[in-house]
Amino acid sequence: MINEALEALNNGEIVLVFDSDNRERETDMIVAAEFMTPQYMTQIRNDAGGLFCVPLSSENSDALGVPFMTDIMEIASSEYPVLGELNPNDIPYDEKSAFSITVNHRKTFTGITDNDRACTIKELALLCKNGKQNEFGKYFRAPGHVTLLRAAKGHVINRKGHTEMSIALMEMAGLTEVAVCCEMMDDKTGGSLPTEEAKKYAEEHGLVFMSGADLIKAYNDFKKSG
Ligand code: 5RP
Ligand code: CA
Ligand code: CA
Ligand code: ZN
Ligand code: ZN
Repeated sequence: MINEALEALNNGEIVLVFDSDNRERETDMIVAAEFMTPQYMTQIRNDAGGLFCVPLSSENSDALGVPFMTDIMEIASSEYPVLGELNPNDIPYDEKSAFSITVNHRKTFTGITDNDRACTIKELALLCKNGKQNEFGKYFRAPGHVTLLRAAKGHVINRKGHTEMSIALMEMAGLTEVAVCCEMMDDKTGGSLPTEEAKKYAEEHGLVFMSGADLIKAYNDFKKSG
């Protein structure tokens, strides 16, 4: 299963990952950001429909200099006290949110179109791939239409969100540790897409579906094998 997933990611394909019954109970579509295209934007927007986010390894986040949104809010709360009152200390499924800032590439127009978002996502991956993280502000502006997520240091060892699972997949696949994830929503119920239907989508589209438990086990084995 994991080998199929890593091969698919290296071929620029989408992989589906369900986190766990003890967490969000959501399946995200995940793809390597370096392979992002406008066609994927269209497919993921229509077929997944959640929020497009870009998980970054904690190393890439540090190199880019992007903080957690909660850290920005805490610092800014001396000037804007409501930002302190909005403290997300009651998330029902996890201790901490992975949200960072939102960005657009400076080449984009509004930033929201499939062409624009694919450009922002792919260019950010290439910036990191080429070790040019210190030129972030030269090529990107904020706020924008692509949400960045900061993976925890050591990713899945310390937090078991799609953010960290996306980065674990990129690491195992030997890809730039910048990903895209988007939750699969259910058009019929207004809820998240049930796991069985996400599995069905994977079968119908020839995609790999993985559980978070299998992914984390594969990562632990990967680490053990050195
Ligand atoms: C951003 C989210 C999604 O759940 C996404 O999967 C990343 O978050 P997490 O790491 O908490 O799973 O909240 O749309
Ligand atoms: Ca849909
Ligand atoms: Ca989340
Ligand atoms: Zn607008
Ligand atoms: Zn998630």
